[in-house]
Amino acid sequence: MIIALIVAAGRGERLGAGRPKAFVEVAGRPMFQWSVDAMSGVDGMDRIVLALPPGTRAPVGVIAVDGGAARSDSVRRALAAVEPEGPGDVVVVHDAARPLVTGELIEAVLGVLAGDPSLDAAIAAVPVADTVKRVAPAPSPPDAGRADRGSEGAGIVVETLDRAGLWAVQTPQVFRRPALERALDAPAEVLAQATDDAWLLERLGGRVAVVAGPAENLKVTTELDLELAELLLTRREQP
Ligand code: C5P
Repeated sequence: MIIALIVAAGRGERLGAGRPKAFVEVAGRPMFQWSVDAMSGVDGMDRIVLALPPGTRAPVGVIAVDGGAARSDSVRRALAAVEPEGPGDVVVVHDAARPLVTGELIEAVLGVLAGDPSLDAAIAAVPVADTVKRVAPAPSPPDAGRADRGSEGAGIVVETLDRAGLWAVQTPQVFRRPALERALDAPAEVLAQATDDAWLLERLGGRVAVVAGPAENLKVTTELDLELAELLLTRREQP
């Protein structure tokens, strides 16, 4: 059985839309609907579960659950909504904040996992194009609180990472269900720290393959991302 879990329970405060990010309209549909539609089009997809902010109305045609305090809590609650069928069950986890996901990408990630029995998971990612530095917060100057603060910069460089071999991770992330269950069976403070589910599996020694995804599969975090997503989805819909 293949199960899709779409997590849409974030508050989306960085977007400042005044409502949960997943419900913001993008190119004529609520943001989460684009991911639901992509999952529905995947061959062999058996169930789609949507984790929503508590108190929001569930859309028709999907199993909806209340999301949790942290992203991984939402994943755990969504997974619990579907009884396992057998050890061969596969779970696709996807952020509703990535409305540009395609059936083609989901199938590519599923295909990599299916093709290698030594793998526990396969995840979409893109090679990092920018040079990445670790930055420590700037120490407060002795006269912090002065009205003209703000000219001291955002912080001080601690190190520059070797860009070769760095990948920016996306969703979909595809797991063998027993491996994902083990990964999610972590203390609350570890779940709260997780920004993706593959990390929870990596810390147990799980084997995770990376599949090159398109840069277009962006995550909507800011107003600019939303404008880009609107443009790209509108273009995609044109005949
Ligand atoms: O906050 P972040 O951008 O990492 O959220 C990624 C995805 O996880 C979003 O689709 C968001 O709706 C979802 N999420 C969730 N439950 C939370 C926090 C985030 O379903 N408690």
